[in-house]
Amino acid sequence: MSFGLRCDRAATWKALQAHYDHTAARFDLREAFASDSGRFDRFSQSAPYVFGDLSKNLIDAQTEDMLLDLARECGLEAHRDAMFAGEHINNTEDRAVMHFLLRTPADDARAQQRNAAELAQVHATLDAMLAWAEKVRGDHTITDVVNIGIGGSDLGPQMAVLALGEFVAPGKRFHFVSNVDGHELDGVLKGLAPEHTLFLIASKTFTTAETMTNAQSAKRWFTQSGGADIARHFAALTTNVDAARSFGIETTFGFWDWVGGRYSLWSAIGLPIALAIGADGFRALLAGAHAMDEHFRTAPLAQNLPVRLGLLDVWYRNFHGFTSRSIAPYHSALKRVPAYLQQLEMESNGKQVDTTGAALDFGTSPVLWGEPGTNGQHAYFQMLHQGTDVTPLEFVAVRDASHHLEGHHAKLLANALAQAQALMVGKSDAGGHKNFPGNRPSTFFVFEKLTPEALGAFLAMYEHRVFTSGALWGINSFDQWGVELGKVLARDIEPRLGSGDASGLDASTAGLLARLRQS
Ligand code: F6P
Repeated sequence: MSFGLRCDRAATWKALQAHYDHTAARFDLREAFASDSGRFDRFSQSAPYVFGDLSKNLIDAQTEDMLLDLARECGLEAHRDAMFAGEHINNTEDRAVMHFLLRTPADDARAQQRNAAELAQVHATLDAMLAWAEKVRGDHTITDVVNIGIGGSDLGPQMAVLALGEFVAPGKRFHFVSNVDGHELDGVLKGLAPEHTLFLIASKTFTTAETMTNAQSAKRWFTQSGGADIARHFAALTTNVDAARSFGIETTFGFWDWVGGRYSLWSAIGLPIALAIGADGFRALLAGAHAMDEHFRTAPLAQNLPVRLGLLDVWYRNFHGFTSRSIAPYHSALKRVPAYLQQLEMESNGKQVDTTGAALDFGTSPVLWGEPGTNGQHAYFQMLHQGTDVTPLEFVAVRDASHHLEGHHAKLLANALAQAQALMVGKSDAGGHKNFPGNRPSTFFVFEKLTPEALGAFLAMYEHRVFTSGALWGINSFDQWGVELGKVLARDIEPRLGSGDASGLDASTAGLLARLRQS
């Protein structure tokens, strides 16, 4: 597998640096709008189900053209095509990266030609899983579904079930247990009856310590509280079907090593979503994502929403030196989207070496964070408007509300628009502590309605945006070695909490161990 040119080795990289130093560093949004009446149109991009207004960002036509040149020089299109061709672009694990196949229609001629065997497996599993989901949806004795999983086996389904609440059939409650902290599982179990509960054990590897500990405790609780018929009350969602069987679970839905954990909500890991919104709803989610895949795969780079966003991310991180990006969904059902996107972006692109293992001397993943609007406005927006750091902000707004409470939605949307406007225009007539510098960048996404299709398209857009910046940075966005060390050390420390043995530990860890053992 060959990779493209790393961005810092491209001639355009040096040209961009010179462009930044000479002019772009002093770019002013207010002047840009005043001098270009076509700016909104030029920097807006329609894509399936998602409209993105990028015009309030610190870019002009010349900057964007140069970033597009950089993408071409680095071989972005070839790398994208390599992913869609099933090449092993996850080189450190020697795996293909084909989460897009999970949302590819069964009759797609291209996929049938290239990945026929995998596509057939995808649809056989999808059909079986959705048929089972419909059966459980019709079983009114099951009132509570408990998903036990962590990271990619938790954040996606949890976020989507909440986001699509309008489409969730009444009669079932959904619970998500991820933390090894027993308070979480204990709190959920307290309200449950075994005969009315379905546990989904979601783990790609079926080895993750938190999930295995919670699964064992759930099974123990189930039998000790009189539960019978594990086959009916437990299902496993995993690539490691054998381990699930040895655990005693007969109902299993599989997926494959070419689906990364943080890219897995489209697979069997999405079963809670299917249980919540039904087979048709789940297929609509996949269809929305597929439409965005096709946009990413075929639209020219200059009209490609994920590409334009990914290039902007590189511009901000490496030339402006911004270290974080904030996301504010102006829809309370999108509450868990920031947490989901944190894993997607920071686990994918939080890397310090390139695909060959060579150290990078430029920044990669920004810190991604956020809360729904308008709540964030009354908490940390102060810093966004007047702090000393510039943090690009992303708004997500939904045109049509799905409630009928008078006045609320116009107030919500007005706030989103006003915040974006205030960040840009600022206010300098008052001076001192009342001064707003303005020229603070933001991106504004609009969905017409928060449907499964729109959510699927938005999430796929984000996946491909992360792909774009990762490809330019020359990193493998599909491994996560950085999570390993802490797991190994926790295994060493756990028995020491019982024994008190502090031998070989640093003084701080030893001191804290002693404190945590004090009763
Ligand atoms: O520790 C990180 C991680 O490997 C994530 O990448 C993954 O989503 C999560 O743990 C859960 O892994 P699994 O689905 O194998 O339990």
